[in-house]
Amino acid sequence: PDGFVRSLRVRGDARGQLVAVEGEREVPFAVARVYYLFGTEPTARRGAHAHRVTRQLVICVAGGCTFDLDDRGTTTTVRLDDPAQALLIEPWVWHEMREFTPDAVLLVLADTRYDEGDYLRDRRAYAEVWGGTR
Ligand code: TYD
Repeated sequence: PDGFVRSLRVRGDARGQLVAVEGEREVPFAVARVYYLFGTEPTARRGAHAHRVTRQLVICVAGGCTFDLDDRGTTTTVRLDDPAQALLIEPWVWHEMREFTPDAVLLVLADTRYDEGDYLRDRRAYAEVWGGTR
């Protein structure tokens, strides 16, 4: 699990905390897109897909949510609830998000612009690619 999650440097002083994320430094790619999820229903499940080429770095900058990850058969569950931690989601990692707190804000940095053709949304088709069955 810790292989996916990395700690970010927090620059704090008496005024409070600041985290900076620079392309090709804290995030190991050039950032092409930023998006964020907020106001997520606590019972909602989001994601449930993998990407063919897109790499993403996810930071839960407020609140918390749980990621279920499946890297071609290796499954992990990660609770993201610390703005100083980042989850790197590589291509072909199936990811689903659940148990959002009402205040959760999920910030995502991606190395591609949005392209629906990059999504694998069919779990069975995803599994067939690597020879799994789930
Ligand atoms: P969706 O893929 O359903 O979100 P998730 O899989 O994370 O639960 O995205 C919701 C809508 O937002 C959908 O109409 C596609 C659109 N969208 C964009 O236009 N650009 C983006 O970068 C993303 C991530 C989604």
